[in-house]
Amino acid sequence: MKIQILPSLLAADVGNLEAAARRAEQSGADALHIDVMDGHFVPNISFGPNVVQMAKKCLKIPLSVHLMLSKPDQYISRFIEAGADSLLIHIEAECDVPEALELIRELGARPGITLNPETAADMIFPVIEQVDEVLCMTVHPGYGGQVFIADVLPKMRIIREHAKSVGKQLDIMVDGGINLETAAQSAAHGANLLVAGTSLYGLQDMASGIAQMRQRAAEMLVV
Ligand code: DX5
Ligand code: ZN
Repeated sequence: MKIQILPSLLAADVGNLEAAARRAEQSGADALHIDVMDGHFVPNISFGPNVVQMAKKCLKIPLSVHLMLSKPDQYISRFIEAGADSLLIHIEAECDVPEALELIRELGARPGITLNPETAADMIFPVIEQVDEVLCMTVHPGYGGQVFIADVLPKMRIIREHAKSVGKQLDIMVDGGINLETAAQSAAHGANLLVAGTSLYGLQDMASGIAQMRQRAAEMLVV
């Protein structure tokens, strides 16, 4: 299982989104993470399908699209048409989650399920067979630049062990407050996809930041 580093476009300068997207790819990112917020599921509003479309036009790396929407089911086809390669919805969303995950698969993207920091691991066990990735939020979703919630670490291990026990190959993603230190801690608990906004876009040299994060996490990864 490989570590992947996904810079989060939310931390980029909105006046230069295309340059910021290109910068992630040129710095060796494995994929670009794009946050979509509806001002209802979370108290903030961010990017829409047009930003995904822009990134698709200028990048070759996959696009990881994180839907922080109360009703994600209504937007799945639009985001996949725009170019999402993987589409993450929340288990706390107000929709038929298994049906929504099935639709993501049918339309040709990788389905992922996300849990907020306080949501228990077993909430996603009923849909684990349907997904390729599980995202454990390590901050309350809505804003970049927050502090990593370490209480979420044991949940990553529980999900990793559960996946193994049912013979399921799974990527475990973490998102929120990820830096060199918390990336390594998350990897030690079984996470292999690392989303980082502020800590990577804030660097002068994103390429060496990505390389270091990948190496530190790979040394610690236990799956
Ligand atoms: C938060 C978003 C994150 C955000 C992470 O709701 O899901 O992807 O960009 O930002 P940092 O890495 O700054 O915590
Ligand atoms: Zn995100």
